[in-house]
Amino acid sequence: MTTDTLHEQKILILDYGSQYTQNIARKVRECQVFCEIHPCTWSLKQILDFKPKGIILSGGPASVLAPGAPVCDPQLFKAGIPILGICYGMQLITHTLGGTVNPSANREFGRAELKIREYSHLFTGVNNNSQVWMSHGDKISRLPQGFNTTAFTTNSPVAAIENPVNKIYGLQFHPEVVHTIDGEKILQNFLFEICAAKQNWQIGSLAKFSIENIKKTVGKSKVLCGLSGGVDSSVVAILVHKAIGDKLTCIFVDNGLLRSGERDKVEKTFRDNFHINLIVVDAADEFLSRLKDVTDPEKKRKIIGNVFIEVFEKEAKRLGNFKFLAQGTLYPDVIESVSFKGPSAVIKSHHNVGGLPEKMALKLLEPLRELFKDEVRIMGRELGMPEEIIGRQPFPGPGLAIRILGAVTKDRLTLLQAADKIIIEEIKRAGLYNKIWQSFAVLLPIKTVGVMGDSRTYENVIAIRAVNSSDGMTADWVQLPYDLLGVLSNRIINEVQGVNRVVYDISSKPPGTIEWE
Ligand code: XMP
Repeated sequence: MTTDTLHEQKILILDYGSQYTQNIARKVRECQVFCEIHPCTWSLKQILDFKPKGIILSGGPASVLAPGAPVCDPQLFKAGIPILGICYGMQLITHTLGGTVNPSANREFGRAELKIREYSHLFTGVNNNSQVWMSHGDKISRLPQGFNTTAFTTNSPVAAIENPVNKIYGLQFHPEVVHTIDGEKILQNFLFEICAAKQNWQIGSLAKFSIENIKKTVGKSKVLCGLSGGVDSSVVAILVHKAIGDKLTCIFVDNGLLRSGERDKVEKTFRDNFHINLIVVDAADEFLSRLKDVTDPEKKRKIIGNVFIEVFEKEAKRLGNFKFLAQGTLYPDVIESVSFKGPSAVIKSHHNVGGLPEKMALKLLEPLRELFKDEVRIMGRELGMPEEIIGRQPFPGPGLAIRILGAVTKDRLTLLQAADKIIIEEIKRAGLYNKIWQSFAVLLPIKTVGVMGDSRTYENVIAIRAVNSSDGMTADWVQLPYDLLGVLSNRIINEVQGVNRVVYDISSKPPGTIEWE
């Protein structure tokens, strides 16, 4: 089998802008079927050239009745490819094929009970009265010819439609969200009963193919990899190392803005355990001097990004001739749809090595381009990487600099590292580290009055931030147990010199962001 055969069974997801489109893709892949997301503006030819086993039309925020609402080519329904329309997708099927969609004064949002009216392949094994998740405004009042209603809910007389002869199906609710209890079963039915897709998307076999592919692509050339110690670049490094061994050189830039003990950990793991050719560049002084007196968050981010590129480029030149730069680009970074350019993409300039390859005339090697984060973790485990790396919480490229509000100094860095270390230790001790998206400390730019012994103190404030999220685009603050918050506050105030107050951040994203800068 080749990677091409792995992709032969692929499902196409056309994105109409729903916040849940990525969920659809992840659910399909969890069923071990490969899928890709593409914009709803794809032409019929692009769709047919893709040769999908089935097509899913996602939900979306528009109304099919609105002028300029996204459409699809009516010929698509004659192509003989099974189609499942979800929410907007179902209304689009109806509208395009001559049914009637009516505006509704009230949105139906939230849980509903699914009443199955007629047998449908889509509902094999699905419980009658099971909970589904609704989120729509418009309603269908007349079906297109050849369609029937297979399910309803109290508020939606038409909750599911189908034309089994042409294999066109529609759902008013969202099978891809967890609140739809039998959602996975419904998607499985579409994939296996209706599209007759095969389960051949396995991350284990993918690692093997990836290694072969890297070998072929790279040949005798040398590859450079910017290792940050995070999950993605670590998996890339191991994968490429397995493929080409010593022809890979990893550069780890110590920018002085790292968590306590981070550099040692990276050296131990990659140099000692995995025997990877690792160059550590100590650039802490350079970063700190360029950040001197800078308080504006965007300026900090820009400076750190620029210095990183300068340092990396200089080191690469010193090391010799490389043809490729290996990067941990993930699938959500390459999806070309508007719905994924979440607010954080435009609100903060994220630090990455974006401009590097062109500047250095390097070719990109991106072995994780097709994967979601959870798939990268599975691949890392398959490659025998330690759980300590695989299960790591995300850490921002600009590091602790964007968690020190105001100017970054050596003293403030040391203080924040100490507080951060305590938070990681205690969150791990409480068994919560792997259940939380991120948990960390922020050093505020103010001092407050306190009392210690009999003396007045006037010292720093640490904010604790702990959030849950599935992709960093939205997040909820975590309801940490009071006992744990108590331990964190006691330990930070007692053990970190210069802190006399600890507060807990209870803002969600939106309207807050995860990082404070
Ligand atoms: P925000 O603060 O935008 O963060 O809600 C969303 C997620 O992105 C991480 N983050 C970054 N990651 N470079 C990165 O690699 C950056 O510049 C950067 N800024 C924020 C943040 O930790 C969270 O997981």
